[in-house]
Amino acid sequence: MQSLFRILSVSTTHIPLPLLTPVLFFSFLLLLFLQWSHPKHKRLPPGSMGWPYIGETLRLYTENPNSFFSNRQKRYGDIFKTHILGCPCVMISSPEAAKTVLVSQAHLFKPTYPPSKEKMIGPEAIFFHQGAYHSRLKKLVQASFLPTAIRGSVSEIEKIVLKFLPTWENCTINTLQEMKKYAFDVAMFSAMKARKLLNETLTKLIKKRRESSKEGGGGLLEVLLSAKDQKLNHLSDCQIADNIIGVIFAAHDTTASVLTWVLKYLHDNEPLLEAVTREQEEIRRRLIEANHSLEWKDTRRMPLTSRVIQETLRTASILSFTFREAVQDVEFQGYVIPRGWKVLPLFRTIHHSQDFFPQPEKFDPSRFEVPPRPYTYMPFGNGVHSCPGSELAKLEMLVLLHHLTTTYRWKVAGNEDGIQYGPFPVPKKGLPINVYPRKKK
Ligand code: HEM
Ligand SMILES: *[C@@H]1O[C@H](CO)[C@@H](O)[C@H](O)[C@H]1NC(C)=O
Ligand SMILES: *[C@@H]1O[C@H](CO)[C@@H](O)[C@H](O)[C@H]1NC(C)=O
Ligand SMILES: *[C@@H]1O[C@H](CO)[C@@H](O)[C@H](O)[C@H]1NC(C)=O
Repeated sequence: MQSLFRILSVSTTHIPLPLLTPVLFFSFLLLLFLQWSHPKHKRLPPGSMGWPYIGETLRLYTENPNSFFSNRQKRYGDIFKTHILGCPCVMISSPEAAKTVLVSQAHLFKPTYPPSKEKMIGPEAIFFHQGAYHSRLKKLVQASFLPTAIRGSVSEIEKIVLKFLPTWENCTINTLQEMKKYAFDVAMFSAMKARKLLNETLTKLIKKRRESSKEGGGGLLEVLLSAKDQKLNHLSDCQIADNIIGVIFAAHDTTASVLTWVLKYLHDNEPLLEAVTREQEEIRRRLIEANHSLEWKDTRRMPLTSRVIQETLRTASILSFTFREAVQDVEFQGYVIPRGWKVLPLFRTIHHSQDFFPQPEKFDPSRFEVPPRPYTYMPFGNGVHSCPGSELAKLEMLVLLHHLTTTYRWKVAGNEDGIQYGPFPVPKKGLPINVYPRKKK
């Protein structure tokens, strides 16, 4: 309509009246034609692409992302367009849209990261890939972190916990910094174990393949060893190194930030902390009785502690959103997302939606007594690029909480209640706390 007005106003001032009717007629035809041949331009999602948002782009990374997203969501709905540092992008915050982008139409939305991150981690790392190489690599990485693979790591993780905890006793520690050290040690240990496992798996498979001269056979073996898979059969040192660095990178800051929030929430909810402690003491009592150390199966008997972790992942939503890029023009819920545009599923907005999580700002682990509706809860993402480290992350949190709650108590030092961002949201100053021995009753 705007262009029609423009044509009209130009027409009336510069063209004699008798000519106006045909000009109008042709402009109208032209408009119809444009609309017909470029329906896309008419159907971009709502939202503003204005440059003023440059300032808000920076804020998106350095300040509270809640207000940025929710203001726009209130104004435009679950899907809207905006600019991020000059890149046109579409932000989505409905479970259906997240499902489309991450799962059902994932092939149309490739992962995209800033070049700096790619350089830092290495271009062969799993994050930056799509399609066959990604899915095969993912199978291997995932195999290294699945419950079956990490079951045997409990005692190693416990050793790391028991190395750290005594150094905190009667000290003021920066929770985030200490959790980073802890998560880094666990990540290093796991990555090295994964590296060994990956190597063994490949070596074994290749050997098996050579022994059985039969063609085919199906299954993972076939997937891994088909002639086309040169790139994977011969994972170069570079490829392996990039992926190990990648895993360590992905693993330690995320887990450390979540753990910092867990300690904050437990500190602020005394009755909850006592309930978690009772759950852990019961396990401790049985272990002592049986003269056993903590095992995988014990960590499966921590329902309340697990819900505290689930609720922390929801409330803190440390990964507020993720990035994808449309590989072609995509028709999407009546709109068109042009090729090359970024698409951001807003996990945090979904996790804080009143519709899926009543009283979303309230920390209430009991809400997870009922499983959340599909695609409303995605702290580890979803689909082909979802987090392969989710089980390990939960395991290392459980093992730490087992010993921390049964042995120690902590008081937040100072009274700063804010949040800092960089890159993940965490309590101000990394949550300094005083740790002291718990008085047993
Ligand atoms: C509580 C801690 C963690 C959280 C909240 C978390 C969250 C996520 C999320 C949301 C994604 C998906 C990103 C996307 O779709 O674009 C992801 C991917 C990934 N995470 Fe985690 N993660 C955590 C811990 C870990 C750990 C411990 C590891 C290592 C074992 C790990 C390794 C990875 C890798 C390798 C990817 C990329 C997967 C791919 O591109 O296919 N993460 N993580
Ligand atoms: C910490 O303080 C408590 C009580 O003041 C004391 O019993 C304990 O031995 C101290 N621990 C260390 C490692 O100093
Ligand atoms: C993988 O295993 C083979 C044989 O056991 C060994 O020679 C090679 O150095 C290993 N590579 C890595 C990256 O661990
Ligand atoms: C407990 O187990 C350890 C080894 O696992 C053993 O050395 C110790 O004697 C056992 N103690 C009792 C009381 O059974």
